[in-house]
Parts: sequence; structure tokens; C-alpha cells
Amino acid sequence: MDQIIVRGNGPLKGEIPIAGAKNACLTLMPATLLTDQPLTLTNAPRLSDIRTMTALLQSLGAEVAGLQEGQVLALSSHALTSHRADYDIVRKMRASILVLGPMLARDGVAEVSLPGGCAIGARPVDLHLRALEAMGASLDLRDGYVHARAPHGGLRGAVFEFPLVSVGATENALMAATLARGTTVLKNVAREPEIVDLARCLRAMGARIEGEGTGTLTIEGVDALHGATHPVVTDRIELGTYMLAPAMCGGEVECIGGRIELLEAFCEKLDEAGLVVEETARGIKVSRPNGRVRAVNVTTAPFPGFPTDLQAQFMALMCLADGTSILEETIFENRFMHAPELARMGARIEVQGGHATVHGVETLRGAPVMATDLRASVSLILAGMAAEGQTTVSRVYHLDRGYEHVVRKLRAVGAHIERVKED
Ligand code: EPZ
Repeated sequence: MDQIIVRGNGPLKGEIPIAGAKNACLTLMPATLLTDQPLTLTNAPRLSDIRTMTALLQSLGAEVAGLQEGQVLALSSHALTSHRADYDIVRKMRASILVLGPMLARDGVAEVSLPGGCAIGARPVDLHLRALEAMGASLDLRDGYVHARAPHGGLRGAVFEFPLVSVGATENALMAATLARGTTVLKNVAREPEIVDLARCLRAMGARIEGEGTGTLTIEGVDALHGATHPVVTDRIELGTYMLAPAMCGGEVECIGGRIELLEAFCEKLDEAGLVVEETARGIKVSRPNGRVRAVNVTTAPFPGFPTDLQAQFMALMCLADGTSILEETIFENRFMHAPELARMGARIEVQGGHATVHGVETLRGAPVMATDLRASVSLILAGMAAEGQTTVSRVYHLDRGYEHVVRKLRAVGAHIERVKED
């Protein structure tokens, strides 16, 4: 397994291009199952999760080709050869559950392995299943799989209110509803930019959807969808991650392709901490005036709240803040695994359940640390860039799931970072 070696940095300077959103692409790709026409996705990120979703779709009989070095995905599923998403693929990536709704809507049948939990939490899929049941699906859970059948004549429109906001369940239900007979009203849905992006793509494919970005989606089912070409929205989590690089090290970095509207709550917290955040013609420029950042409190929440996927990275910044901050994680039950690793670098963090109290320190010291999940891995890299001495991050395969060319992008703004084979 590879390691990443980071050495403490002076101020950064330059620009970082932001890729297409992993979490948008992972729901846009299964949309190909809704039609027998070709779907082309541009601005696709080159990540291991995208390769996993490609393998899953191909196992169902879809054709997926990566063009122009993978930034364009050409997908088509004129005839599925299987309706079974196997455990050996699903266990690698929970987003695999997103083939359930489209397959059920298109062919009336689907057998999808239950994804199981992951490091940050149990990650149940009960809300996905309840929404599809509301549309008439019959679901049989056995031997670790969901055996789903649509009623004779296909799924039918329904009114369903989610008891709690779920990004994935919203995506599964939205895709299924596009081909259901009649009108579906989904209430208390997720409002993330990735949901808005999915709705825009589905509309380009002929779906009739209203309300994306609000708490209620109304979908008029149609008989069939056609193909489309759709650009994947900018990755707001990669964007926020790289906006923290100058916050950690000082200097000034422009994130090309970023837009503040994707991350308003996060940008407000950077402003509160004393950073200068300005939207430019090409993206977002972040700079840190001299001196330490201020400690600010954060509570993660569904969009438009502070993203849970940026909590670990923001904690790295608060480790060096002038004061004490409290980070409250309300989305997942175990998303502070980066804390003990940051503590190895001299951070002072107390975790109690869903709260982490961070007492800012003047300096962090480089140390060998271990990545535990995707967002924790990049939090440790950010800390290493601001620490004295050398930090070695192991298990960086977590990183490859969500960050394309992280070494190249950070080196381009002056970071002392390299990737090596573990000895
Ligand atoms: C998506 O996961 C993202 N993944 C996650 O990003 C992100 O952290 C999360 O949304 C929240 O924003 C993708 O889009 C591929 P949820 P998802 O359903 O859809 C509970 C990353 O780092 N829940 O919104 O799985 C669940 O346990 C990843 O890129 C149920 O109880 O998240 C959690 O506590 C990590 N039953 C809460 O809802 C369900 O059926 C929110 O989960 C579904 C979810």
C-alpha cells in the first residue's frame, strides 16, 4: 500500500483545478439504467469509486466507456443482461445501492446486495426501501440481498415523506419516480447540489421534475426517457478541502471552478475564522492574513448546512486555532476517527459522542498517522502541511476514492508532498 509523506510548509501560492463531483457522478451513472438510449457525462472525475460504479454497471450489461482520459463517460444500457448487483462489488462502495431504483423502474425487477456498514457508521438503507415500497414495490430481504419487484404495470406514483433527510434515498426515489405511472410527491428530501444536478440531468433525459433544491420534489412519471449529455457539477467537497490548504499554511490559493453557492455555510465559517474568501471570475480565492485563525463552532447538517464531508478537514484547521472550538457531528455516528490521529501530531481534542472539543495549539508536529476513511485521510494531509517536521500518512487507498491527483494539485501551489510505496 502507498503512503503519502508531507513536510511542514510555508505559505502556499497558486491555483488548483476542482474536478467534477464524485457524489454527483455516482448517482448520475446509474441513471443510464432508466433508458435504452446513450447517456454522456462530461467533467467526470477520475476516481476509484467511479471505476467501481463502472464495473457494477457493466456487470448488469450496461456499456460504459471512459473517453478523453476518463473525463467523459459514455454510458448505454439498451438491454440489461442481469438485474443482480453482487455483494463483492457492492461491499466496496455503498453508493452501489443507487442501481436499485432505476433497475426497478425500468425492468420491474432488481436484486441488490445490502451494502452493509462502513467505518463512519451503520449506514442503513431502510429509507431507500420504504420510498420504493410506497411506489408499489414488493421487497424481500433475504441472504443479504434486497429482492425487489415492481407491481404488474410498473411502479406507481405516490406521496412519501422521508422521516429524516437522506441523500441516497432521495436519489433512488427520484430516479424511480421518473418512470412510475402518475405523480410522485417526495417530501423532506435532500437538497444537496448533487440532487439538483441529478434532477437537471433527468430533465434533460425527458423526465418531468419540479422542486429540486427545495424540500419537496414533484415528479410526473413518463413512459420512457431518452439519452442526454450532461456536465457533472463541481465537487463542493474537493473544493472545500483545497480551500483549507491556504487556511492551514498561509498564502493565497485560487480554486478554479468553485462557486460560493455550493458551500455558503462552509464559507461563512471560514470568514468567521478570519480567512479572506472571495469569488473570482474563475473560482474562489482564499487567503489567510498573518496570525492564527480564530476558533469557531460548527454543527454539521444536511444542505444548506455545514457539510459532514468537510468536518474532518475543518477540524484540522481548528487544531491550530487561537481558542477552543466545538464540532458537532449530527449526520453519522462515528465520524471522529481522525481525532486520535491528529492527537498523535499534538492536537488537543476531546471526543464525547457526537461532540468534539478542540483546544487550539500553536504548533502541530509531524508523525506517522493512518487514514481511516476518505475524508479523514485528507484531513491528516492538511495537518501535515501545517505541522513542523514530517508526517507519513498510510492507507492512502482511502484517498483515491475521492481525490484525483491530490499530490500533483497540492505540489502545484508549493506543498512539500510526495507519494511513495510503503516499505
Ligand atoms: C451521501 O451518503 C454521500 N455519499 C456521503 O458522502 C455524505 O456524507 C452523505 O450523503 C451525507 O451528506 C454519496 O453521495 C455517494 P444519507 P448517503 O443517506 O446517501 C441515515 C463521502 O465522503 N440513513 O444522507 O449514504 C444515515 O445512516 C460520503 O463522499 C438512514 O437511517 O447519506 C445517516 O445517518 C461519505 N436510513 C443519515 O441518514 C437510510 O435509508 C444521512 O445519510 C439512509 C440513510
